[in-house]
Amino acid sequence: MSKIIWSEFLSVENEEIDNQHKNWIEIFNTSYDRMMGKDYSTLSQIGVDALINMQEYTDMHFAFEEKYMQEINYPDAAEHKLKHDFFRIKLKRIRQDFDNGNPKLNSEVMKIIETWFVEHIQREDQKYNLFKKKLMP
Ligand SMILES: [Fe+2]
Repeated sequence: MSKIIWSEFLSVENEEIDNQHKNWIEIFNTSYDRMMGKDYSTLSQIGVDALINMQEYTDMHFAFEEKYMQEINYPDAAEHKLKHDFFRIKLKRIRQDFDNGNPKLNSEVMKIIETWFVEHIQREDQKYNLFKKKLMP
């Protein structure tokens, strides 16, 4: 597991969405820092806080992106939303494990979250960017 470093490769050429992606990465990296070198009991609380932050920010960000895709009449918006739903469910399940006293926010889970998010920006979010650019060169 490692921190995520934002670069121009991740840009979708929309300032607000780029800023939201940067904020999300900040939340992820802060969780990463706080998890390093902590014992298990502390880690549980850090995990809950990190997940709540991540879940709330992800919900806000996905809703914004979904609205944006509607606004630009992006034809694959519904398919894109399904991918968001998949991640929403993934975070919800991790959260449920916490609430059931079975915390699983370890480096392996963080790695899964990191990989999904970065790949999603690079593969899926870039698609609406390309679509928008064709309309408005
Ligand atoms: Fe997205």
